[in-house]
Amino acid sequence: MKLLSEANITAEATARLSDTPNARLKEIVIALTRHLHDFAREVRLTPSEWTTGIEFLTRTGQMSDDKRQEFILLSDTLGLSALVDMIEHANSDHGGTASSLLGPFYRPGMPELKNGESIAHDLTQGEPLSVKGRVINGNGKPLANALIDVWQAAANGLYDLQDPNQPEINMRGRFRSEPDGRFAFRTTKPMSYSVPTDGPVGKLLRAEGRHSFRPAHIHFLISAEGYETLTTALYIAGDRYIDSDAVFGAKDELTVDYIRGGAEGVDALEFTFALSSRE
Ligand code: BEZ
Ligand code: FE
Repeated sequence: MKLLSEANITAEATARLSDTPNARLKEIVIALTRHLHDFAREVRLTPSEWTTGIEFLTRTGQMSDDKRQEFILLSDTLGLSALVDMIEHANSDHGGTASSLLGPFYRPGMPELKNGESIAHDLTQGEPLSVKGRVINGNGKPLANALIDVWQAAANGLYDLQDPNQPEINMRGRFRSEPDGRFAFRTTKPMSYSVPTDGPVGKLLRAEGRHSFRPAHIHFLISAEGYETLTTALYIAGDRYIDSDAVFGAKDELTVDYIRGGAEGVDALEFTFALSSRE
């Protein structure tokens, strides 16, 4: 029997994977094995640290269900979700709007509202805001009848899903762009909020001395026939967490200023979303 050592176990473990029939799976598990072994060697991982890591991942799985995905939150706070999104869009110099994380609070199938309607069902909370958007393609042509899903946290920093005191559906809705590509809705100003910290990921953030906040933002998921679906968000300039988003989603090109004192003194946000053609 071959004598296994710290120096040769990685080659032995990856050689076992050499007959993996699916070529992509083979590439992924071999690279994962190599990186995990290199990681253990680099930090000189002890058995008790290995146990702590296994217990952490076990709690992360136990905390996850159809309403709560602690593994995705872990990926988000490690910057892995943002990195995967960057890799996906690395070669797309398509003139389309930059993407940003979908996050765990998207709900499909929300009511379709008329342009100009409010997504906020309790306007007594928070400062009113008017959002005016336009959907175009990479050549600047307006796109009619695009479907625009929007969602955001309420003024207390919670999504409807997290807050029994909000109506069942609140701060979310779907709109259709008009023939000139425009859509509009009323809402209240988004606030920065904390990602959930009551699970193992929150404990890890505290141990790392990191904050858990996302800068104020509104999510958009925009689809139109013949175009790539755009998952993005608009971030509010000047937010104290704009440069330290806990999940690395904020981008300069998606950061916007309020236009002060529009109709009836209500501040506005305006943005043109460009969709890239499906290849
Ligand atoms: C969000 O923006 O809704 C979000 C994204 C990642 C983790 C938590 C929340
Ligand atoms: Fe969000």
